[in-house]
Amino acid sequence: MSLELRSINVAFGGFKAIDDVTISLKKAEIAGLIGPNGAGKTTCVNVITGFQDPSSGTVTLDGESITGKAPHDIRRRGLARTFQAGRLFTGLDVLDNLAVTGVGLGHSRRASEDEAMRLLDWMGVAHLAELPAAGLPYTDERRVGIARALMFAPDFLLLDEPAAGMSEKEADDLARIIRRIADELECGVLLIEHNVGLVLSLSNHVYVLDAGKIIEEGDKAAILGSQAVREAYLGADQMEDA
Ligand SMILES: Nc1ncnc2c1ncn2[C@@H]1O[C@H](COP(=O)(O)OP(=O)(O)OP(=O)(O)O)[C@@H](O)[C@H]1O
Ligand SMILES: [Mg+2]
Repeated sequence: MSLELRSINVAFGGFKAIDDVTISLKKAEIAGLIGPNGAGKTTCVNVITGFQDPSSGTVTLDGESITGKAPHDIRRRGLARTFQAGRLFTGLDVLDNLAVTGVGLGHSRRASEDEAMRLLDWMGVAHLAELPAAGLPYTDERRVGIARALMFAPDFLLLDEPAAGMSEKEADDLARIIRRIADELECGVLLIEHNVGLVLSLSNHVYVLDAGKIIEEGDKAAILGSQAVREAYLGADQMEDA
C-alpha cells in the first residue's frame, strides 16, 4: 500500500505555501517531514486529509486519486491524522472521546467502548479513560489524540508535531509508541516534528521542506550530510543535537 503526493501546489492568494511537493509513504514505514515554522508541513497534511484543496497536483492512495475528497471520505479510506492542538471533545471523558469515533463509523456503543479501552491500554494510558478530556496535561492529550486517530484502524497516520512541548523522556516514550504503530499495526506514519533527532532516528526516509519546497530528502545520513539543509535553514546547533 502506498500514499503519494505528486507535484502538489497550494497557493493562498498570490502566496505559494506549497510548491511542487512530491512525497511518498509506504505501509508499515515511517517518513519524516521537517522544516522551519511556516515551511508548509501542516498544509501538506491538510491536503492529504482533504482539509485543503491543492491548486494543482494529485494525492493517490494505492494509485487511486483521493485529491479533493472530503475529510470524512478520506478517513474511511484508512487515513487518519492528529492536530497540532489536541482538538479533543472537551465535554467528554477520554474513553468517550474515542468511543464516539467508533459510533460514527457505525459500530455499536458497546463495541466502540471496548475498542476504545483496548487502544488506550495499548497506548499505555488506560488509567486516563474516565478523566474529563478538558483537564488533561497536554502530553496526555497528545497520546489520547493518537489513540483516537487509531480508532479508524488507519493504514496511514499523519502526526503533526506530536512531541511538541514534551520532555526528553516523554518524547522517548512517544518514539516507542510511534515505532510500534508502524511495526505492530503495520501503519504507515508521516511524522512532522521540530524535534529533528526524533525524526531522524525513527524515519526510514526524511523530507525537508523549506518555504514550500522539498530542499532535501533521504535517510538520516543524507539529511545530516546535506549542505543544503545545513545552510538553507536548519541552524547548525539543531543539526549537531540530532
Ligand atoms: N488558510 C491559509 N490562508 C493563508 N495562508 C495560510 C493558510 N494556511 C497556511 N498559510 C500559510 O502557509 C504557510 C505554511 O503554513 P503551515 O501551517 O503549513 O506551516 P508549518 O510548516 O506547518 O509551520 P509550523 O511549524 O509553524 O506548524 C505559512 O506561511 C502560513 O502562514
Ligand atoms: Mg504546522
